[in-house]
Amino acid sequence: MIKFVMNGEIRTLKACDPTRTVLEWLREDQRLTGTKEGCAEGDCGACTVVLGELIGECVRYRAINACIVFLPMLHGRELITVESLGTSKDMHPVQKTLADLNGSQCGFCTPGFVMSLFARYQDTDPELPKPVNTVLAGNLCRCTGYGPIQETGNTLQPDVSVQSRFGGSQTVSLLQSIHNSDAGEIIYHDTNFGTPRTAFIPTREEQLADLLDEYPGATIVAGATDVGLWVTKHLRNLQTLIFNGNIPSLKGIAQVNGGLTIGAGVKYSDALKQLASLHPDIGALITRIGSVQVRNSGTIGGNIANGSPIGDTPPFLIALNSQLTLASQAGERVIDIEDFFIEYGKQDLRPGEYVKSVHIPALAENLFFRTYKISKRFDQDISAVCGAFSIYLDDGLVKDARVVFGGMAGTPMRAKACEAALIGKAWESETITSACHAMTHDFKPMSDMRASADYRMKVAQNLLRKAFAESQTSGRTRILEAQ
Ligand SMILES: Cc1cc2nc3c(=O)[nH]c(=O)nc-3n(C[C@H](O)[C@H](O)[C@H](O)COP(=O)(O)OP(=O)(O)OC[C@H]3O[C@@H](n4cnc5c(N)ncnc54)[C@H](O)[C@@H]3O)c2cc1C
Ligand code: FES
Ligand code: FES
Repeated sequence: MIKFVMNGEIRTLKACDPTRTVLEWLREDQRLTGTKEGCAEGDCGACTVVLGELIGECVRYRAINACIVFLPMLHGRELITVESLGTSKDMHPVQKTLADLNGSQCGFCTPGFVMSLFARYQDTDPELPKPVNTVLAGNLCRCTGYGPIQETGNTLQPDVSVQSRFGGSQTVSLLQSIHNSDAGEIIYHDTNFGTPRTAFIPTREEQLADLLDEYPGATIVAGATDVGLWVTKHLRNLQTLIFNGNIPSLKGIAQVNGGLTIGAGVKYSDALKQLASLHPDIGALITRIGSVQVRNSGTIGGNIANGSPIGDTPPFLIALNSQLTLASQAGERVIDIEDFFIEYGKQDLRPGEYVKSVHIPALAENLFFRTYKISKRFDQDISAVCGAFSIYLDDGLVKDARVVFGGMAGTPMRAKACEAALIGKAWESETITSACHAMTHDFKPMSDMRASADYRMKVAQNLLRKAFAESQTSGRTRILEAQ
């Protein structure tokens, strides 16, 4: 049974299709049609709603894409839609400011813009500034432009008295009453497919391990930023689903020996601060993953487990020699993350196993590190090539090197010939030239809609040149645009 808070009360869904999206439920079952469907794949933001999650005694609000979030993912959370904010006679400050500044352009995108701005308005975390353009990068307007909408964001100042309507003590106690409650088994009989669809929302890792043992073919769903599209775009019939978003032990980040251990269920938004403090390039890279809505849902574990050759975290994780902890009923095993990616579509994940955490070791004193993402658009775009470089220097000589790329092969992969051309040589431009040449032996990249094979190779070589050039200058700064 799924329980969540909506408009000040607990809603209970006894029987529902666990692959029904929140957007479908809102529009088709509840007739709350303020939330719109544009793309049904997390790209346009028309479906933006806000989820509230209990963090200690407070509720943290975040914008997400309702089109790729399944109903069981609401369990234990608060759902806020554009209808929850205000009416034309009694507008929420976000709605009123948008209207006053002529930012309510078309009825299709405006609710999404309102909800993204509302989430920013509610989130007063002083440590993470939220530039308006970053917040709105996942909301597309195809008509007039963004000027009045940006102005609205820049004009809005959180008003504590209004804010108390959301996240107040009543909401906190409602959420506490359902927090960590066991949803039990959710069974749905879909007459189109004839077989029941079953879902579970475990709250402990032991339950997760037991379920994976009992249902070896089950699909783990973390943030559903991949799995959601399997359903909305590929129309896949997922029969058994295990949602791991309510397991606290998968959502922790710990500093261990100067490095970071990150639970598989940690969302990009939650990992940003610590990853950025490990190295600013990693922070900058994380803010290039999807949009705010995608980063509020997608997890680090999902980005690793999906085995995608164009996922953005594996290159830097491999370059930093990170270790992956895999767990099952049989216990845990730790592997180097580079060994996890066997070939395209094949990962070292045994039946019954799940990704538990990834450990990124502390960056060594003599390490020169860089990571870069190249995509057609700055925001909300998948990498054509993603590169990461770990160069260990000793008195001007390259003692060791890990050069890793996504987008160049069927898996994220080290450029071993390139590394061999660097190791033992002086860190100077002649060495870089021969390492770039050696890289042509490492990869035979493919041509696709994102880039041609030639372009990919040129870019990969140029990223190494860029890293070298940056190593020769000091005082380089990066602007970290927080989520
Ligand atoms: C609009 C949009 C933009 C995107 N942009 C980017 C981008 O810029 N860069 C990028 O790298 N990706 C991008 N993605 C892809 C996606 O966001 C990431 O791959 C994300 O990290 C997946 O995490 P998730 O939690 O949503 O995984 P899910 O979709 O829930 O799961 C993905 C896969 O991993 C498995 N899985 C999840 N967790 C575990 C676990 N703990 N153990 C074992 N298996 C597990 C699932 O079974 C599934 O096979 C984008 C997606 C969308 C929709
Ligand atoms: S409908 Fe486009 S992001 Fe959801
Ligand atoms: S606001 Fe909808 S297309 Fe511009």
